[in-house]
Amino acid sequence: MRLDIVTIFPEYFGPLQLSLVGKAIQRGLVDVGVHDLRRWTHDRHRTVDDTPYGGGAGMVMKPEPWGEALDELLLDPTPDQAEPMLIVPTPSGERFTQEYAHEWAAEKRLIFACGRYEGIDARVMEHAASRMRVREVSLGDYVLNGGEVAVLAMVEAIVRLLPGVLGNPASLVEESHAPGHDHLLEYPTYTKPETWRGLGVPEVLLSGHHGEVAKWRRAQAEERTRSRRPDLLG
Ligand code: ADE
Repeated sequence: MRLDIVTIFPEYFGPLQLSLVGKAIQRGLVDVGVHDLRRWTHDRHRTVDDTPYGGGAGMVMKPEPWGEALDELLLDPTPDQAEPMLIVPTPSGERFTQEYAHEWAAEKRLIFACGRYEGIDARVMEHAASRMRVREVSLGDYVLNGGEVAVLAMVEAIVRLLPGVLGNPASLVEESHAPGHDHLLEYPTYTKPETWRGLGVPEVLLSGHHGEVAKWRRAQAEERTRSRRPDLLG
């Protein structure tokens, strides 16, 4: 899989070299290119923003550098000639979910466009949609200063699903938001020691009785979901 990230803050993506994603990059399971949007500016100040038409607070990202950036990235052939997908994080997008992470993990190439300020001129997404699939997505109902942190989160959610990235792929099966998991949150987990600061581990987990353990976990997952995320129960 090939990932391209366009941003005015390439330094945000240093942490991709760490941990599981870093290892996936080193092992060639994913190829990540981080590109400074200002490379595609032509004025002395390397301007990427301007005031909004119609008035209002803040600045909007100019379309020209984005257009040139996407033109250049599209010249670089995608593995197997597959059509890339453009992902634009924005608080006004559709909600990014684990389903999207699974769908996108099956893509050959994703291009992430990190907006700043009041967003990117809407014509950039409109024009891009004539040559590739475009998805505008939000991480949740809160506002970040730009798309960078959202892209870090989405890249991690996607890359960990790629075959060979997780040491034990069984960990994907029971986690919160896993497909086929009835939309339940994951049950609480414990490890050694058996007693810590006076707190014990639930007896059933020490019983060695797999059927009882499974029943207890299911009940805990249901109770957690009811109290923390009743919206998931439908
Ligand atoms: N950019 C700014 N806020 C965002 C959010 N909530 N999700 C995704 N991208 C964003």
